[in-house]
Amino acid sequence: MALLEILTFPDPRLAQPATNVEVVDDALRQLIDDMFETMYAAEGVGLAAPQVGVLKRLIVLDCGEREKDDQRPLPPVQPYAIINPTIVAKEGEIVWEEGCLSVPGYTDEVNRAAKVTVKGLDRNGQPLHIEAEGLLAVCLQHEIDHLEGTIFLDRLSRLKQSMVKKKLRKKAEEEARP
Ligand code: NI
Repeated sequence: MALLEILTFPDPRLAQPATNVEVVDDALRQLIDDMFETMYAAEGVGLAAPQVGVLKRLIVLDCGEREKDDQRPLPPVQPYAIINPTIVAKEGEIVWEEGCLSVPGYTDEVNRAAKVTVKGLDRNGQPLHIEAEGLLAVCLQHEIDHLEGTIFLDRLSRLKQSMVKKKLRKKAEEEARP
């Protein structure tokens, strides 16, 4: 097992689309294990392969944790690794306060579908079918967005997006200076 480096905005790799996984083998399962370890170490609820510099369609998530005072309905509590995930159905609307391990220190409200159906493959290459709502639905949409090169900041209003991105670019530049 190994901790992987998580890329942060404005790393250009976060804006690139990922390609389908062709072979589900031990090397891929190792990557899945490393991604879980990296996600838990960073206290995240989801991680997509492009966030660790691998431009493949692969996500891991564990949406079991939640805030103490959060009264919204519980999603099925279970860690998932999903290979080649696609959203095959969407329904309704929900607004959720989102954050991202690639955008440390910033959260904001994002509009998402309230329910989604996702298909993909599990770590053994077997078909996976997930019907999700609430936090799990939000997690799935957020992580699958990463596979298209989209981060949650891209879902904010144009004005807010340009303000926030400008600020984060400036912060990243300052941190890169010796
Ligand atoms: Ni993210």
